[in-house]
Amino acid sequence: MNKSIKGFSKLSKEGKIEWLVTEHFENPNEAREVIETYWHADKKRQKIHDDFIENTITNFYLPLGVAPNFMINGDVISMPMAIEESSVVAAASKAAQFWLHRGGFKAEVISTKKIGHVHFMYEGNAPKLRKFIEANKKQFLEDTRSITANMRARGGGIVDFALVDKTLELDNYYQIEVGFETCDSMGANFINSCLEQFAKTLKNLVEGSEEFTSEEKDLQIVMCILSNYTPECIVRAEVSCPIDQLDEGTGISPAEFVSKFKRAVQIAEVEPYRATTHNKGIMNGIDAVVIATGNDFRAVEASCHTYASRSGKYSSLTHCEVENDIFKFWIEIPLSLGVVGGITSLHPVVKLSLEMLDHPTAEQLMKAVAVSGLAQNFAALRALVTTGIQKGHMKMHLLNILNQLEATKEEIEIVKNFFQDKVPHHSDVVQKFCELRGIKSPSEIVKKK
Ligand code: MEV
Repeated sequence: MNKSIKGFSKLSKEGKIEWLVTEHFENPNEAREVIETYWHADKKRQKIHDDFIENTITNFYLPLGVAPNFMINGDVISMPMAIEESSVVAAASKAAQFWLHRGGFKAEVISTKKIGHVHFMYEGNAPKLRKFIEANKKQFLEDTRSITANMRARGGGIVDFALVDKTLELDNYYQIEVGFETCDSMGANFINSCLEQFAKTLKNLVEGSEEFTSEEKDLQIVMCILSNYTPECIVRAEVSCPIDQLDEGTGISPAEFVSKFKRAVQIAEVEPYRATTHNKGIMNGIDAVVIATGNDFRAVEASCHTYASRSGKYSSLTHCEVENDIFKFWIEIPLSLGVVGGITSLHPVVKLSLEMLDHPTAEQLMKAVAVSGLAQNFAALRALVTTGIQKGHMKMHLLNILNQLEATKEEIEIVKNFFQDKVPHHSDVVQKFCELRGIKSPSEIVKKK
C-alpha cells in the first residue's frame, strides 16, 4: 500500500478531498457526502474553521452541553462543557445541584506565574556566567521592551529571571528560567517571543564580552520555549459541609458515606493505578470546560499530570479531610488559561461559552474550571462508593446504543422505560430492540421513518 503524495498542502480544498476520497475509500461518494454534510452552510463561517489549521477538509463535531447551578463564591454560573463522553455533563449538573444547597464551591487563585526557558550548553565557569547575567539584567529587559510593551500596559510582563545550573543532570546544560505574568491571555506566543529575544541577547552579550574565553563564547542555544508545567499558576477549589448534610440519595448513612468517600480519595493518593483513573475523571470535567472556552487542553492535561507527580509518585489531584464532623473536599491544580487571544475571539461557539460564563477574566475561568474538575470527581466517587458507576453510565450509554440502531423516538421511550430498573448491557438492549421490531437479529434491522 502506498498512499503518499507530494504537495498535498498546495492542492485546493476540493483537490485535497478528491485525492483523499479516491485513494482511501471504497465508496468515495459516501465519504465525500460525510465530509460535505459537516461543512457549515454559511461559507464565511466555514472559512473561519478552515483557517484554524492546515489541510482542513471538514469539521469534527463535539456536543456542547451545559451544567447549570454551579455556585462559586456566592455567584451561580452555568458551565459550558464540550465533551463526547456520556454522563459527564449529567454528573456535573448533579454535583452542582447537590452543592448549591450546601454553600456552593469556594475557589481562589493562589498564583499566576508562568515559566519559560532558554535551554543552552555552556562549557565554562558557572559563577562567572551567573554574575555576568545578573550584571546585565537591565539589558535583557531592555531588549524585550517592544515585545512586552502591550503586556506591561495590561499589568503583566516579565516577572523575574535567573540562570539555572543543570550540569549535575546533563553535562554543560544551563537554562535561563524566565517568569511571566500574562494577565488574561495564556501567553504562549508572548512568552516564546520574549525567550527567543533573551537567547539572542545572551549570545550577543557573551560574544561581545572580554570576560569570556573563546570556548565559553561558543555557548550553544539549544531551544527557547515556554514550559506547560505551571506549578506557580495554581488554583484551589473546595466544598465543605457538616457530615449529616451528606444524606441525600446515597442509600447509606452520612457517616458510612463519608468514611467510604475518604477511603476512596486516600486510595487515589497512594496508588498510581487508581490515581490515574481518579484524575482522568477529574479531567473529564476540566477538559470539557477548557475545550468549550477555546483553551489548550493538551497543555492543561500535561501540567496537571506533572503536578500530580510532583512528590516523585503519581497521586490524586483532590484531597479529603473530616474534622469536627465537617466534611471538606478540595482540589489544587495548575491551570494556564486565557480568555483573550488564540481562538477565543474567532470561534463562534467559544465566544458563546465565554459569554455564558459572563465574560470571565482568566482568573475567574481558572476557578470555574477547577470547580468543574472537583464536581466531576465528587460525582464519580459518590457513585463509585455507593451504587457503582455502571448504573448511571449505562443509562446514558443506552441512548447511544439506540441511536446507533436508528431507533425511533417511540422505540427509545419504550426501551428506556424497560431498562429503568435494570443495567442496560449492550446485548440486552439490542435484543429488546429486536423484539420490539419483531426481528430476530440486528442484521435484520430495517430503518423506520
Ligand atoms: C470515567 O470517564 C471516569 C471514572 O472512571 C472516574 C473514576 O473512576 O473516578 C468514573
